[in-house]
Amino acid sequence: MKIVVIGGTGLIGSKLVKKLGEHGHEAVAAAPSSGVNSLTGEGLADALKGASVVVDVTNSPSWEDAAVLKFFETSTRNLLDYGAAAGVGHHIALSVVGTERLLESGFFRAKLAQESLIKASSIPYTIIRATQFFEFVKPIADLSTEGNKVRLPPVLFQPMAADDVASAIGRVAMSSPVNGTVEIGGPEQFRLDEAVRRDLAARKDPRQVISDPSARYYGIKVSERSLVPNDDARLGETRFEDWLNQSAKQAPKAGRQSA
Ligand SMILES: NC(=O)c1ccc[n+]([C@@H]2O[C@H](COP(=O)([O-])OP(=O)(O)OC[C@H]3O[C@@H](n4cnc5c(N)ncnc54)[C@H](OP(=O)(O)O)[C@@H]3O)[C@@H](O)[C@H]2O)c1
Repeated sequence: MKIVVIGGTGLIGSKLVKKLGEHGHEAVAAAPSSGVNSLTGEGLADALKGASVVVDVTNSPSWEDAAVLKFFETSTRNLLDYGAAAGVGHHIALSVVGTERLLESGFFRAKLAQESLIKASSIPYTIIRATQFFEFVKPIADLSTEGNKVRLPPVLFQPMAADDVASAIGRVAMSSPVNGTVEIGGPEQFRLDEAVRRDLAARKDPRQVISDPSARYYGIKVSERSLVPNDDARLGETRFEDWLNQSAKQAPKAGRQSA
């Protein structure tokens, strides 16, 4: 089966392409560096020729409100238009758990616009909403840092390994479209401030994490369950503690550098 992964050079995309290849599929990593640009349409017709499945794991280079909306709207329209012309039978896109609860942010308004376009298109689809990746915990800390302090609300948080995200997408790509949304998440729930505290401690990062119910997540006011998936979410296997230990071994000098 030919599966085109748009954003196939990114964190999730590169893991997904590798996994699909290991399962014997023709997995094509499409990205601007390989001459495929979902924003301009460049290279899309050729890349999608003979494709059964398209997986969209792109991200916008800019998260500024207007830029990110333009990216996800234009890119998604192009993928759906070129996909329909090529006879693609399954369009899969990666979105975020709780998107409709996070609309104070332009990024999530753009993700919701992406989801709406997919739902309205003629191509059978599956939207996969994932919780935050373990790899994203440190960037969350960086964005909430003032001086030596990281202020975060103690809301529920159920992050997952990027590797498990890619495995879950791979399983969806090898299955029939659900024409709906599936949620995926990590195997354990934490409090957001606690998870960030553990991440920084594992990196020997000296910043102090302060639990502050009035602090925002990415500039967004969140409540107890804003970030966690429904009870029927498919859960990854990797535990945060194991991933932290593994990452610490791989990058013993990881410190305060930005994401
Ligand atoms: N971070 C989280 O915790 C989280 C949680 C749930 C869902 N998600 C979603 O997961 C998705 C993927 O995230 P990621 O971290 O894997 O992203 P990433 O590492 O930033 O990768 C983004 C990919 O998009 C490609 N891309 C950018 N502009 C493009 C264009 N015009 N045409 C085609 N490809 C383009 C990039 O190509 P180049 O390599 O050439 O730049 C790269 O391959 C995002 O949509 C995000 O919303 C993230």
